[in-house]
Amino acid sequence: MIDMGMEQPETDKTETVNANDTASPLLHESELHSRKERILEVHSLSKMFGGVTALDDITFSVEKGIICGLIGPNGAGKTTLFNMITGIYAPDSGYILFKGKSIRKIPVHALVKAGIARTFQHVELFGSMTLLENVLVGMHVRTRSGFWGAVTRLPWVLREERKARERAEELINFTGLSDYTHRSAGDLPIGRQKMAEIARALASEPSLLLLDEPAAGLNAVETEALGLLIEKVKKKGITMMLVEHDMSLAMGISDKVIVLDRGRKLAEGTPREIQNNQDVMDAYLGEA
Ligand SMILES: Nc1ncnc2c1ncn2[C@@H]1O[C@H](COP(=O)(O)OP(=O)(O)OP(=O)(O)O)[C@@H](O)[C@H]1O
Ligand SMILES: [Mg+2]
Repeated sequence: MIDMGMEQPETDKTETVNANDTASPLLHESELHSRKERILEVHSLSKMFGGVTALDDITFSVEKGIICGLIGPNGAGKTTLFNMITGIYAPDSGYILFKGKSIRKIPVHALVKAGIARTFQHVELFGSMTLLENVLVGMHVRTRSGFWGAVTRLPWVLREERKARERAEELINFTGLSDYTHRSAGDLPIGRQKMAEIARALASEPSLLLLDEPAAGLNAVETEALGLLIEKVKKKGITMMLVEHDMSLAMGISDKVIVLDRGRKLAEGTPREIQNNQDVMDAYLGEA
């Protein structure tokens, strides 16, 4: 487990907290360096729904540029954690820093603009819109022309639209979906829809991409293609968190893995460390 070096109490001022500003001068230089490299820090995060504890005192961090696997049985709290990192749910206690700043009170769309994107456990494309249109929707946080731009159709608006379209086509090409550009998203095979969600998420130009079970419903060939795509995204320098039940995918491409069980963090380490972790083995045996 990564020791955060120090704990920060939750205060009303957390939205302006900067991890670098608060670093103790006594911290070792290598620790200071690694703090700077953390794109995401989750501190003592807890969340209850009625009587159900979905997340219980979760602390971890994600270093820039890595793929961080997030695994655990059904109901472990994985999607809830994504919902909190994307600002959908506020924590009962604890806090989240993205690039050193608290995300508290930042609305969902502003977090997308700040660089956090996600895909959903259940595909949430606009089924009757084409793939191209879906990707353009993902891009709108990066374009300037809003309602009035669309009405006035000034030259700069048209220029921006053309550029957005070119960029969307590039992304569709990047995800290997060129053959489907003008097809209705709802008509795509499920494997392609999962890829299309990634294309749409990439359109917002994220620095942190959260993938919630991207391989669910995919066959072995599609899963392999997905793994290759995720690695291509990593090469672009985009940090990812990957919730996945397909263990060969999760263990095969994650740099580190966090294991959740009934809302608690059971283990954290490299895939190999996780496979040999006693608590993980005990949980597995307990379930068998
Ligand atoms: N909006 C909600 N209202 C009530 N309970 C919820 C809500 N969201 C999640 N929960 C509960 O919180 C717990 C964690 O759910 P969550 O969806 O985060 O699990 P998960 O690890 O993503 O599971 P799965 O692998 O099945 O997707 C579950 O007991 C779930 O029923
Ligand atoms: Mg889930």
